[in-house]
Amino acid sequence: MCGIIGYVGKKNAVPILIDGLKKLEYRGYDSSGIAIYNDNSLSIHKSKGKLKNLENKIEGKTLYSNLGIGHTRWATHGEPADVNSHAHTSTRETIAEIHNGIIENYLELKSFLQKNSQCVFKSETDTEIIAHLIDYFYEGNLFDAVYNATQKMEGAYSIGVICKDEPNKLIGVRKDSPLIIGIGENENFIASDIPAILKYTKDVLLIENNQFAEITKDNVKVFDNDKNEIKSKFFKVTWDEECAEKEGFDHFTLKEIFEQPKAVHRTLHHNIKNNEIHFENINITKDELKSFNKIYILGCGTAYNAGLIGKYALKKFAGINAMCEIASEFRYNDPIIDENTLVICISQSGETLDTLQSLRLAKEKRAKILSIVNIVGSSITRESDYIFYTLGGPEIGVASTKIFTCQLMGLYLLSLHFGNLLRRISDDEIKFYINELISIPDKIQKLLDDSEKIKQIASEQFQNESIFYMGRNVDMEIAYESSLKLKEISYINSFAIGAGELKHGTIALVKDETFVISFATQEFLFDKMISNIKEIKARGAYVLTIVKDECKDISDLCDKVLKIPYTLDIFTPILSIIPMQLLAYHISVMRGNDVDKPRNLAKSVTVE
Ligand code: F6R
Repeated sequence: MCGIIGYVGKKNAVPILIDGLKKLEYRGYDSSGIAIYNDNSLSIHKSKGKLKNLENKIEGKTLYSNLGIGHTRWATHGEPADVNSHAHTSTRETIAEIHNGIIENYLELKSFLQKNSQCVFKSETDTEIIAHLIDYFYEGNLFDAVYNATQKMEGAYSIGVICKDEPNKLIGVRKDSPLIIGIGENENFIASDIPAILKYTKDVLLIENNQFAEITKDNVKVFDNDKNEIKSKFFKVTWDEECAEKEGFDHFTLKEIFEQPKAVHRTLHHNIKNNEIHFENINITKDELKSFNKIYILGCGTAYNAGLIGKYALKKFAGINAMCEIASEFRYNDPIIDENTLVICISQSGETLDTLQSLRLAKEKRAKILSIVNIVGSSITRESDYIFYTLGGPEIGVASTKIFTCQLMGLYLLSLHFGNLLRRISDDEIKFYINELISIPDKIQKLLDDSEKIKQIASEQFQNESIFYMGRNVDMEIAYESSLKLKEISYINSFAIGAGELKHGTIALVKDETFVISFATQEFLFDKMISNIKEIKARGAYVLTIVKDECKDISDLCDKVLKIPYTLDIFTPILSIIPMQLLAYHISVMRGNDVDKPRNLAKSVTVE
């Protein structure tokens, strides 16, 4: 949600800002804008809608500047409109500013400024208040003015600020919304995320919450909330620009689906040596693990669905009965937490506000936090005791695909490790399971090699207005994830259900030609699934069933059967999701949707 980019250097900032905003498009936005210093004044250009509108607006204008800020907005306060787009300026047009987050006390600050200054408000946003407030405090030192303004601001914000009277300086502030600093040669950057600056530098400074950066083309100084200068963590990006490009695929989503063999392989092999598990950032001892009398797994959307499967793995391998909860519910549900609680937070972005706030609630109550996160240095990782990084590389498509399978791999490894620590599984058994996991990337590849088959099914079903999914045990959880994937990119009405639950109400929806996808990969539940399939077939449903390669022939029972390579029951979700991601993708394309940026969705949900 909302993307920020800022530049100070020797080059023309305008194409750098536009290019950076393009790289941040995946975050979701409805308008965009830039502010640059030009000829002793600040020049602002903004437009509702796609970035193309902004580009068209500035085309033909000779805009040149060595200093600028740019923004993609995801509307919260005030509708998507030119006037509500960022950057916002103060009334005297001395200050220009961009913001990601929400200023919770903006109404209070607005009436303060209306009483105490001459400022005139132009937009309906909470963000505009920041420009006026900084100008209110401005006495010739931009850094001090920004600092003083933030002391009055409540809520979440990362901001980028420039000033007409200090045209060599860019200020960045981070509080509960992401912001990184890119270090270049004779140029420096701020951005919401690494892809925005990767074309220019791989050297990144991670600033923490409540920190301020004063940036010129040759220097970056970072200060804490007491204005003490501090040394920030330096981070070298290990992936390159191509990773954030489509590389010949029509969409990022498709590219990311096809990257899964590599992404899952990397996530697995980084954590094993000689068929033993070695984690870099998880040093929980056996005694510590034994001391936890409660384990929660938290996440939102796809991350939550991964957690649902992790719950089964923890039970199977470690005998641990974990509770998996949606982070947005958990926080408001009086969870019972104490120092003997372990909370496992799963998040691709590491910035999802509900997950982050649940983590904070748990920490306040002295729980230990283990996070499974993709983005290095993100807020969730900074506040965690233990971290498992999914090594999937950047995920640009809004629908999570490769990071879901990497999260599953992380959860399998974690469960095996815990099981081994508690001596529920022996060293030999763990080697056996790891060998099975080692075979997974090739099996994913095999499914991808068969993608034409899925495209064919998509072409038969893309005009359908509802698609149901059912399964039992981990197959039920993968049904949830398959349904979510379909909904979010195809906009087809869909739900998933435990197959045994069908006859308690939902079967009333099944009629002639209702398309039902059923999962029957769990050997011990195979016969039960067959009964459920018969129930819906008897009501006219058109049934596609996912089974393991070597299972009994059920082709006369179903309309279509899709086979996944053989693996142990507990590991099937990491395979059976692949054809379901492909199905959602192809249906979305056939319906003419914007697959990578589905309507109303943002990649990183930093508001409640
Ligand atoms: C669905 C999807 C979302 C995210 C959810 C959590 O494809 O991407 O449901 O899984 O918004 O996001 P993270 O994982 O960044 O916390």
